Amino acid sequence: MKIRVLGSAAGGGFPQWNCNCPNCAGFRAGTLNARARTQSSIAVTGRPGGATVLVNASPDILAQLQAAPDLQPNRSIRDTALAAIVLVDGQVDHTTGLYMLRESNRPWPIWCTDSTHSDLTLGNPVFGVLKHFCGVDRRRIELDVPFEIDTVGGVSWRALPVASKPAPYSPNRDAPISGDNLALVMTDEDSGRSVVYAPGLAAIDPRLWEAMLGAACVMVDGTFWTDDEMIRLGVSRKHARDIGHLPQSGPDGMLEWLARLPPDTRKILIHINNTNPILDESSAQSEELRRRGVEVARDGMEIIL
Ligand code: MLT
Ligand code: MN
Ligand code: ZN
Repeated sequence: MKIRVLGSAAGGGFPQWNCNCPNCAGFRAGTLNARARTQSSIAVTGRPGGATVLVNASPDILAQLQAAPDLQPNRSIRDTALAAIVLVDGQVDHTTGLYMLRESNRPWPIWCTDSTHSDLTLGNPVFGVLKHFCGVDRRRIELDVPFEIDTVGGVSWRALPVASKPAPYSPNRDAPISGDNLALVMTDEDSGRSVVYAPGLAAIDPRLWEAMLGAACVMVDGTFWTDDEMIRLGVSRKHARDIGHLPQSGPDGMLEWLARLPPDTRKILIHINNTNPILDESSAQSEELRRRGVEVARDGMEIIL
């Protein structure tokens, strides 16, 4: 199994178009030791040369595909290596790319839970819009039930509900239900090794923790370093946990959890917000991650299991 990080940033990307936080301003001024990042998505390929699953459809999908020529194999006049789409939630940063993929020459097989399906038919009716273009071949994700994506061999999938937040337009925004947000456990059928991918995660429950303990690699919520990061910078009045993201630092933060994983588990933070000091590769926080053996996802990074 190969995972390509198409976009490693949270909603807004890095730098964010209207943001003058120290990271975004420093990047534009050329004074920050950091790389630009596009919005949250990964591509999962089971076997070499085989079909690929797009996990989340970012607003930046077209640039992400241009940066990944393998995903455009050119076998016919209209072609793509992408055979299906899996959505972990119905948030803007994970679904806006669906509009950009409307030229598909067949209905997109899109795997999502019932609650994400509601978000994308009621709150933000992109599935209805796509009916006027390529169409949607919706496949239901059942929680904690392993599934296969028929056109993509070599990987088995399992979705675990996680505590986070559905989008503001979700019918469940103020009372989240199980299935609004997912962690994906992807297992390589040849090696038996698995990856846990959870870009939005406010808390780690026993079922998710068990999956993380059994994984060769975890790619988990790296949105914010501190719970009050956006408040301190004056960019929002919301805490990280209020919008469904577990901060890295502090008691019960992500770093404490990652420190309890086996030493050979690969630990990667993904879905990084533009305000997060870990984007500055010279920051004390980046140094702390290096000391702890925790990696920060970059666009174009590939993980092979
Ligand atoms: C999130 O991960 O909290 C959302 O994607 C935020 C957003 O809509 O940009
Ligand atoms: Mn997001
Ligand atoms: Zn910023």
